[in-house]
Amino acid sequence: MMYEPREDTQLLGKYVKKFARDKVLEIGCGSGALMKIALDNTSRVEGVDIDREAVDFCREQKLDVKRGDLFNDIFRKFDIIIFNPPYLPQDPKLSFEDNRDLFGGKKGWETIERFFSEVNCFLEEKGSILLLFSSLTDKKKVDSIIKKNKFNFEELEAQKISSKETLYVYRCYR
Ligand SMILES: C[S@@+](CC[C@H](N)C(=O)[O-])C[C@H]1O[C@@H](n2cnc3c(N)ncnc32)[C@H](O)[C@@H]1O
Repeated sequence: MMYEPREDTQLLGKYVKKFARDKVLEIGCGSGALMKIALDNTSRVEGVDIDREAVDFCREQKLDVKRGDLFNDIFRKFDIIIFNPPYLPQDPKLSFEDNRDLFGGKKGWETIERFFSEVNCFLEEKGSILLLFSSLTDKKKVDSIIKKNKFNFEELEAQKISSKETLYVYRCYR
């Protein structure tokens, strides 16, 4: 099922507008809303999503999108990589396969961990990653995944969206 743009998309969009430049890749592009923002800054914007409906929707809008699992069909480097991942812990009553837009794994951070174990080969030396996640993902764990993979990060914004949840936007760099 295609992820419709929500408050997380909007929050990350603010920083896509600020930082997108040169060659941009969005992993998990969904409806392509963030790719369109990036296209205001540069014409070289590519996207990947695992969801067929999302890929078809993006292609109808002439966005350059591949269907794939993270970087499995990517063969070059980018200056900015955008990732608004599925970041929630899986609800055991619901199927993981049918909710890949929401669930990052049993704990929520597993897809982010896989992303950071692969991203190094696809980022230019002075490139950066724009990452969004939630307090429900386990912030300490996300911070440790980033450090373990030898990236630094700056927190660009923390936005409280309910009494139980805060969204974070990070810029990660070497
Ligand atoms: C939270 S949604 C974000 C969608 C869009 N970027 C936005 O901000 O509105 C996460 C997206 O990641 C995609 N996704 C989940 N797992 C993925 C994977 N392993 N590889 C590529 N895309 C994935 C989902 O299909 C979904 O479109």
